[in-house]
Amino acid sequence: MFNRKNNQYKQFLKDYPQYNETKNLDKLRKKEYKRIDQKKHVYLDYTGGNLYAESQINKHLEILKQETFGNPHSTNPTSQLATKLCEESRSAILDFFNAKDEYFCVFTPNASGSLKIIGESYPFCKESFLLLSLDNHNSVSGIREFAKNKGSKFCYTPIQTEDLKLDEKELLKHLDSHSESKNKLFAFPAQSNVSGIKHPLEYIKLAQEKGWDVLLDAAAFAPSNRLDLKEIKPDFVSISFYKIFGYPTGLGCLLIKKDKFNKLIKPWYAGGTVTLASSTIDAHYLQPNHERFEEGTINYLDIPAIKIGLEHIKNIKIENISKRVKTLTHWMLENLSQLKHKNGKKLIHIFGSHDVNERGGTLVMNFYNQNGEIIPFQQVEKEANNRNISIRTGCFCNPGIDETNYAIPSSELEKYFSNHKIGNYTEMVNFTGKLRGSIRISVGLVSNYEDVATFKNFAETFLDK
Ligand SMILES: Cc1ncc(COP(=O)(O)O)c(C=O)c1O
Repeated sequence: MFNRKNNQYKQFLKDYPQYNETKNLDKLRKKEYKRIDQKKHVYLDYTGGNLYAESQINKHLEILKQETFGNPHSTNPTSQLATKLCEESRSAILDFFNAKDEYFCVFTPNASGSLKIIGESYPFCKESFLLLSLDNHNSVSGIREFAKNKGSKFCYTPIQTEDLKLDEKELLKHLDSHSESKNKLFAFPAQSNVSGIKHPLEYIKLAQEKGWDVLLDAAAFAPSNRLDLKEIKPDFVSISFYKIFGYPTGLGCLLIKKDKFNKLIKPWYAGGTVTLASSTIDAHYLQPNHERFEEGTINYLDIPAIKIGLEHIKNIKIENISKRVKTLTHWMLENLSQLKHKNGKKLIHIFGSHDVNERGGTLVMNFYNQNGEIIPFQQVEKEANNRNISIRTGCFCNPGIDETNYAIPSSELEKYFSNHKIGNYTEMVNFTGKLRGSIRISVGLVSNYEDVATFKNFAETFLDK
């Protein structure tokens, strides 16, 4: 439908000439990701998870077939080989983020696992303070439970309704307050997992200069942007690898700035995290490096696949991915927003800034009927599923964005939460009488014009209804 002779496609190339500069990604898709088109998938959930190339699987499988691996950190040959390949991946990660020398890289199960380490180990106490961006994944927000349990105070710094960017004035106010606090942690996402908004990375240095430690959640940013830790130096960074190159799942990392390493107080010890421990007396010595936070046996069979994945991205060049994502996002913002019913009412509202320099390739939106009423996202999702289009709907583990978009007052939330022992989406909607949730589409690594144009065609089926 969108072959190279197609007029729509030709016009697209004329309007977005930068797309042609990323042609290699089309070749790559044909060669390495042909399963997408063979099974006629329109994949628009790159923020949920990226897709892997065939060669990543083949290379990993080849290593597993050819070698014999034992549990690492022993002197026997199979163990030594496992250790060697895991350390090669660790080194590749530090290289990829330009973090050599200054950061430790801790293997974790995913970004949430990385964030949990910070929750457990940051020295929260009665005199400490946790500042959270209202735009945060639940896995960052949940750190407040660790803070509260240790008597720490916390609060959220708001986002602006009109563009979903952090309200800078309010942020500065918060950063300038709490001068009496001892350990101050500011946690925000480099890119929103819902709105795609890129929050300024300059906030890191600014906060640090005001005495804050900074936790940067880079899970949604790293897949299509260069994260250079020589340029920006957050104290802690959370990453999930399947979001960057699709395979393997179950692995992430926490990057810890070396000068903040000893600030983290590990609440227990486990196998692999100590240099020495006694059972007869109450004493142990923790490992002086990343191993302190890697509990038990690491995922030594999958970790070598991280190096393969990073090499894959390096070959493509992250800048090419950024360029393609930016081009397609630009096209979507322009073309989806202008869809109108015959009576002139808009079909789609995309939340957040429409400036492609302030955002990545994740778009959160609602569909409206010709009377201006929201079409339930469940209906849109069902119809997308029927067309093999993978989108995502709901609140995306980020209630701050949803509560902002629907302007839900705290008083209503408090009423609901204090009246219910167990909560769920439908019950809350019924209780508050307000619809919640939206539709999210996201582009990435091998997205192409066909994907987004197919989504537009799909959206048009809701016109005049
Ligand atoms: C910005 C952000 N932070 C954290 C997470 C949690 O990642 P994971 O589910 O891999 O632990 C996600 C997942 O979508 C995310 O997008």
